[in-house]
Amino acid sequence: MTTAPTIDVQISEDDIQGSLRSDVIRGLTATRKWLPSKWFYDARGSKLFDSITELPEYYPTRTERALLRCHAGDIADSVSETEELVELGSGSSEKTRLLLRALDNRGSLRGYLPQDISGSALREAMSLIAHEFPTLETHGVVSDFTSMLHALPQAGHRTVAMLGGTLGNLAPEQRAEFYRRVHDVLNPGEYLLLGVGLMTDPEIMVPAYDDTAGVTAEFNRNVLHVLNSRLGADFEPDCFDHVAVWDAENEWIEMRLEASANMTVTFADLGLVVHFAVGEQIRTEISAKFRLPAFHAELRVAGFPVQQSWTDPDDRFALVLGRRR
Ligand code: SAH
Ligand code: AVI
Repeated sequence: MTTAPTIDVQISEDDIQGSLRSDVIRGLTATRKWLPSKWFYDARGSKLFDSITELPEYYPTRTERALLRCHAGDIADSVSETEELVELGSGSSEKTRLLLRALDNRGSLRGYLPQDISGSALREAMSLIAHEFPTLETHGVVSDFTSMLHALPQAGHRTVAMLGGTLGNLAPEQRAEFYRRVHDVLNPGEYLLLGVGLMTDPEIMVPAYDDTAGVTAEFNRNVLHVLNSRLGADFEPDCFDHVAVWDAENEWIEMRLEASANMTVTFADLGLVVHFAVGEQIRTEISAKFRLPAFHAELRVAGFPVQQSWTDPDDRFALVLGRRR
């Protein structure tokens, strides 16, 4: 029987607007300016991210895809009780199809629950999934995985996946909070599958965030377009330079936007005026790269002892399977 996919928009436009306003007030009035990376992802930002995944310099996506091609069957065997795959920050769900196919072949899978803050990405992904898996119950949720996990519907034994290295976009204290929330919503014995970037040579990592075609630069500047359209700001995005640096102390890539001149930006909808001195930067994203032993320890402490992990031959990316204690 064919089941029509459904979408549950749990975050209203008012919620999004309210949370963006408070993030902007907090982040852009701080001494060192910053913005949360989730605001990259309007429809244009989601498309730009998909273009990034095809760049020669951006190895994470193709490495994770190759890992899934090789090991989706092993993963499906390890989570054989799974009736529902919940995917947080699912984006295009492109690589996920490899996992869905493997789970589907094992016979216990009933549903797929992709979740994303980007409604446009979710809708597009779901129509492709529905085409390929017509009998799978696909139920999309538009929400924020940093605060709304408790509202995810539940139907059967779950594996929660977060692929693509998205976990690395959370700072250590946000990751700890994220694990606490996932631990609260999962039942003992359910699974957490994480795709994470591993520490490798900065000469490999940095170009992945600073490609020669300038797609990542445009993705980075997209957050300014979002602030212009959502909050009536008057940023001139092209007056900000894209910066990507390896922070060796924190072991993460940091993306920043650097003012190329002295500027004053007015947020009409907020009654806020923000000054930028030439050379001043806004931190727009961190992308942590992990060492596997420390990452296993982090998951154990969070209540998800690691069952197994899979890495590529160059140790650049890992799929790590924890099980809720
Ligand atoms: N998992 C996909 C997409 C990764 S890009 C892949 O592996 O290719 C990160 C995704 O997470 C985007 O689709 C973005 O919209 C989503 N995202 C980022 N922050 C989010 C948040 N706080 N809540 C929900 N989704 C978020
Ligand atoms: C979604 N996330 C894991 C990407 C990353 O690699 O941190 C976002 C990204 N930023 C720049 N390029 C890609």
